[in-house]
Amino acid sequence: MKPTFLITAGPTREYLDPVRFFSNPSSGKMGYALASAARDAGASVILVSGPVALRPPKGARLIRVESAQEMYREVTRCYRDADIVIMAAAVADYRPEKCLSKKMKKGRSALSLRMVRTPDILASLGEKKRKRLLVGFAAETGSLVREARRKMGEKNLDMIVANDVSRRDTGFGSDYNRALIIDKKGTVTRLPRMSKDRLAGIIVRQCLRNF
Ligand code: PMT
Repeated sequence: MKPTFLITAGPTREYLDPVRFFSNPSSGKMGYALASAARDAGASVILVSGPVALRPPKGARLIRVESAQEMYREVTRCYRDADIVIMAAAVADYRPEKCLSKKMKKGRSALSLRMVRTPDILASLGEKKRKRLLVGFAAETGSLVREARRKMGEKNLDMIVANDVSRRDTGFGSDYNRALIIDKKGTVTRLPRMSKDRLAGIIVRQCLRNF
């Protein structure tokens, strides 16, 4: 039987008031490419997506969310139907403590905001993984392998895809990515710069081999 993939994509938005939010430049391209590759491999696909300007892959079940809290809720709800989970979304780690119901007025002085932690979705999935295959991404600006290994251990992952997001020609927003994959045995596979579609195919095939 073909497995069901649960894939996340895009950024989250953490609102300060109705017209302002904290976010990041994730376009959703990596996550949507993974959803297409899994669908092309004949799998069922649930795609939980932050706000992006992409056409959803035909045949995937799309669930749109905005905040990290909403993504946490939807991913947790779909988890029982999932065999393989790939978290490619760039989830905000912090949100403003309060979201005002009306637009905040500007004052004369500087503004300090208190930010609080959002739920770590992947870590919470790792705690109740059972037979599922859990794949995370690591977006880093240095010490790629060390940080990826740390995240892999902390979140109880079977595989992690690490990308350097300080580069302009790959990563956030680009059609291309340069990544390394670390598997459960600790083997590091360094991949050259390639299209996100091609990288997605490699990741999906590796998931299917290990499932
Ligand atoms: O969307 P694109 O423009 O195509 O760009 C692709 C990408 C750069 C966003 C993608 O390749 C990528 O690196 N995604 C992961 C971004 C990220 O949040 O990395 P992180 O190292 O901060 O988080 C580690 C892992 O934990 C990720 O799988 C993340 O989805 C997950 N996470 C993070 C925070 C949080 N609160 N909950 C989580 O589940």
